[in-house]
Amino acid sequence: MEEKEMPNPIEQLQKVSWIKACTTDSIPENEGGCVMIKGKQIAIFNFTKTGEWFATDNQCPHKMQMILSRGMLGDQAGEPKVACPYHKKTFSLNTGECMSGEEYSIQTYPVKIEKNEVFIGLRD
Ligand code: FES
Repeated sequence: MEEKEMPNPIEQLQKVSWIKACTTDSIPENEGGCVMIKGKQIAIFNFTKTGEWFATDNQCPHKMQMILSRGMLGDQAGEPKVACPYHKKTFSLNTGECMSGEEYSIQTYPVKIEKNEVFIGLRD
């Protein structure tokens, strides 16, 4: 029987590079903002309703619009989500999965706050 190598979560965590993205006061409460990191637009969300921060691709995979940072935040059965302003497709802020029952998904990124600065974790 062939053994499958499982990804080591600790090893994966060690490969994350934390990039300073912005200050906490630059993202309004319960809204998003967009930053450019390594040539990629990343949407950062300050979800004060749950006290959490999230980061995802800014590009909506439906029509490839750079818009998700301007989406509406909410939750569906406790799962935080963002709704694209164009056609209202919604995405989980935890997993990036489309919650509108379609195959689309977006990349999510780990976020950490230190003092009043927002850092985004990118894998090398
Ligand atoms: S472009 Fe986002 S839902 Fe259509």
